[in-house]
Amino acid sequence: MFRRGALSHPTCFLLSLAMLFLSQMEARSLNPCVEVIPNVTYRCMELNLSGVPAEIPPSIQNLDLSFNPLKSLGSNYFSAVSALRFLDLTRCHIQTIADYAFEDLHNLLTLILTGNPLWHLGPTAFHGLTSLQRLVAVEMNISSLADLPIGNLHTLQELNMGKNHVDSLKLPKYFSSLAFLQFLNLHSNRISSISRGDLDVLQGEKGANLTLVLSINDIKYIQPGAFAGIHLRELSLRSCFENSGVMKACIQGLAGLQVHRLVLGEFRNIGRVEDFSNGLLDGLCQVQVQEFVLIHFQKFCNGTDTLFDCLVNTSTIRLLNIFLNQVTAVPASRVQQLECKLCKFIEVPAKKLSSFKDLRVLRITKSKYLTGFLQQFQDLPNLETLDLSENRLSFIQCCSFHLAGTPKLKHLNLSFNSIISLSGGFNVKELVSLDLQHSKLNGVGSLPVFLSLGKLVYLDISYTSTHVISQYVFCGLESLQVLKMAGNSFQENNLDNIFMNLTQLLTLDVSSCNLMQVSLSTFASLHKLQELNISHNKLLTFDPLAYVPLQALTVLDISSNQLTVLTKTLESLPSRLVCLDLSDNLLDCSCSHLSFLEWAKEHRDLLRSPERVLCHSPEHVKNVSVLNFDLSSCRLSAALVATSVGMSLAGALFLFLIYKYYFNLYYGLVLLSGCRRYAERDDTYDAFVIHSSKDNDWVREELVETLEGGMPPFHLCLHYRDFTPGVPIASSIIQEGFLSSRKVIAVISNHFLESKWCSFEFEIAQSWQFVEGKAGIVLIVLEDVDKVLLRRRLGLSRYLRRNTYLEWKDREISRHLFWRQLRTALLHGKT
Ligand SMILES: *[C@@H]1O[C@H](CO)[C@@H](O)[C@H](O)[C@H]1NC(C)=O
Ligand SMILES: *[C@@H]1O[C@H](CO)[C@@H](O)[C@H](O)[C@H]1NC(C)=O
Ligand SMILES: *[C@@H]1O[C@H](CO)[C@@H](O)[C@H](O)[C@H]1NC(C)=O
Ligand SMILES: *[C@@H]1O[C@H](CO)[C@@H](O)[C@H](O)[C@H]1NC(C)=O
Ligand SMILES: *[C@@H]1O[C@H](CO)[C@@H](O)[C@H](O)[C@H]1NC(C)=O
Ligand SMILES: *[C@@H]1O[C@H](CO)[C@@H](O)[C@H](O)[C@H]1NC(C)=O
Repeated sequence: MFRRGALSHPTCFLLSLAMLFLSQMEARSLNPCVEVIPNVTYRCMELNLSGVPAEIPPSIQNLDLSFNPLKSLGSNYFSAVSALRFLDLTRCHIQTIADYAFEDLHNLLTLILTGNPLWHLGPTAFHGLTSLQRLVAVEMNISSLADLPIGNLHTLQELNMGKNHVDSLKLPKYFSSLAFLQFLNLHSNRISSISRGDLDVLQGEKGANLTLVLSINDIKYIQPGAFAGIHLRELSLRSCFENSGVMKACIQGLAGLQVHRLVLGEFRNIGRVEDFSNGLLDGLCQVQVQEFVLIHFQKFCNGTDTLFDCLVNTSTIRLLNIFLNQVTAVPASRVQQLECKLCKFIEVPAKKLSSFKDLRVLRITKSKYLTGFLQQFQDLPNLETLDLSENRLSFIQCCSFHLAGTPKLKHLNLSFNSIISLSGGFNVKELVSLDLQHSKLNGVGSLPVFLSLGKLVYLDISYTSTHVISQYVFCGLESLQVLKMAGNSFQENNLDNIFMNLTQLLTLDVSSCNLMQVSLSTFASLHKLQELNISHNKLLTFDPLAYVPLQALTVLDISSNQLTVLTKTLESLPSRLVCLDLSDNLLDCSCSHLSFLEWAKEHRDLLRSPERVLCHSPEHVKNVSVLNFDLSSCRLSAALVATSVGMSLAGALFLFLIYKYYFNLYYGLVLLSGCRRYAERDDTYDAFVIHSSKDNDWVREELVETLEGGMPPFHLCLHYRDFTPGVPIASSIIQEGFLSSRKVIAVISNHFLESKWCSFEFEIAQSWQFVEGKAGIVLIVLEDVDKVLLRRRLGLSRYLRRNTYLEWKDREISRHLFWRQLRTALLHGKT
């Protein structure tokens, strides 16, 4: 079944929309049909239904009921779904369509009845279809156009009656009322002859908009004059003739026809006339054709000897899948557009084709034998477009020589060829677009080959194996707006200053170029750039400074790189950006990048394919979408971090305090342990002597000698002599010092005042005295002690009143007094 031209139809759009949704199986299902768009589109295909399901809402617009055994359509069959715009009844075993079957479908645009073996069709069956634009009645056992009661379908634009049994092209009178009919398809019917009068209803301008498809009918005879005075938009006669003799005669039968496009030829699988014999198209001299299309001919033994003879007034000639290997004769003609697709040329027939003096567009494409380009296009003053894409061309010194005679050439397409060497430079000053993609290019990366193309706007050198080593590659391209160079490579995988002076550039594609870095100055002159594609590279970092000059940027694609973090970029992203593609990178979703994650969530509208912006690390969130990333988990662990930091600070502070107030703490402890042992005290010694080790001499020679050797002898406790070795000094002081002595003698000297340890011992003694509740400290102040310091350091004044205070003076008279006072103090309380 052919649907030529039908695809532009609005209803066909609806069909494709429906098909699109049909493929989406996810749709919610309303028993028994698939609800493709709720309340609008339902698919009830192949469900063994015998009618319109009652569950379908009346507002539905698109209904696919195909492959259900409906068998017959009674009157007002679709009254429950009267809002329909699209109805598909393909292969529903419908044999009878009663009168008024579609009565209520005033809005229906498209009705598809393909594959129903009709027996009976009521004469008013199509009544009520006041909006119908497209009727597909393919394969419906219809044997005559007159049998189809469609005279009332005044809005009909397309009627497809392929694969029926219609044996006559006699258009019934009612066709004159189908004022909008644009497409009448009668392919694969049984029309064997076309006679004068068959097309009378199209006389004059009535058919000027009509495309008439008669392909795959076995046409044996066209009566000369049958098409005389007829205007058609398009006439398609493919695979209609059993041999070239019949074909030649029938083409002569077209005499008098005016047609915008005439399509002749074969279908690949139904090739009947395979040889193009001389004079085959002679009949076209009596036909006015604007565009001639010849499709699928196997043999052209004589080249183009007679091919163009009767096409001199045709403006467009398209030869598709024609095994033509040489251009032999070209008459003087007015052909402006010539296309040879899938032809058999070995070499570009530039010289012969130069005879088409009016040529504006020339396309020779998809010819797999076309390898050579040695000739020169000469004297084609109007040629604007030359498309030689998708061949196998290999040639050198492109293109000054080859294009010498084409001064107005604007568009040159040499894409998808083999090897093109550009060392010759271009001398085509008017060139606006140049497409070289997917051809292997020599010379581009190292030489300024585009130097003379000051008007070039569009340049595509994607996938051309170009290795850019020179900064001057794009020199001279002052007007360039679009530069596509994906799939190439750069020296040191770095984008250097090659875009200098491309100040007009709007679009730049450097994807898939193995890029690892972008120099800071790369984009410095691209103030107008709107779209930058730098995806599928190996960028590890994204330096925002390099992108700062891109003030006009709206689309930035940095997907499929190896970026892990983007934090720095966020503020400096160009302000006009509306689309940012970050997908398929190696994004790090650690909480340390919380700001990026938050930014991504806030700017989800900016992101292209956000579902593919995935976390790559850490492992436990791998492949989680950045947008679905649970930020609260980060906040939680931030709190955790805060607490642990706080706790360690507190710990450190605690340790610091312990260090700082070690003595005070220790002192408290000592006191505490003293209290516990209070009961155990005994008076082994008369006095415990606290002194600085630097005063040892005085203690030994004066104090110990005098007191222990005197009468009565006193028993002193001296830590250097009486403490049990190995017992910690602090507990010795308590146990063997304070707890075993009645009194404490403190030998105060400058050394004593300087020693922390002495102060500590003295403080314990004071506290001890406080605990015991009696005066027990004897202070001996040696000579030269700074009294002010003494007061301040030991806070002595408070105790002086309660304690014995003796000053040692090394004079005979005062010594005597000293010893007597000391003995008295020590004797106090001695048993
Ligand atoms: C289809 O439905 C009919 C009754 O409407 C039933 O007899 C028949 O078996 C069904 N066919 C299938 C394949 O379910
Ligand atoms: C086509 O319709 C005719 C009656 O118009 C009938 O005799 C014939 O069997 C039908 N053909 C098919 C294939 O149903
Ligand atoms: C042909 O169609 C165009 C729109 O497609 C319309 O403007 C024009 O009037 C039509 N001409 C005729 C003769 O129907
Ligand atoms: C060049 O030809 C190729 C292949 O036919 C096509 O895809 C491309 O769009 C053409 N380039 C231009 C600029 O038209
Ligand atoms: C850029 O333009 C300046 C002046 O217009 C010129 O001197 C310089 O050579 C050009 N550089 C490149 C790489 O085109
Ligand atoms: C960037 O290029 C890649 C492939 O080279 C393509 O898939 C992608 O769609 C392009 N991005 C944009 C925004 O056009």
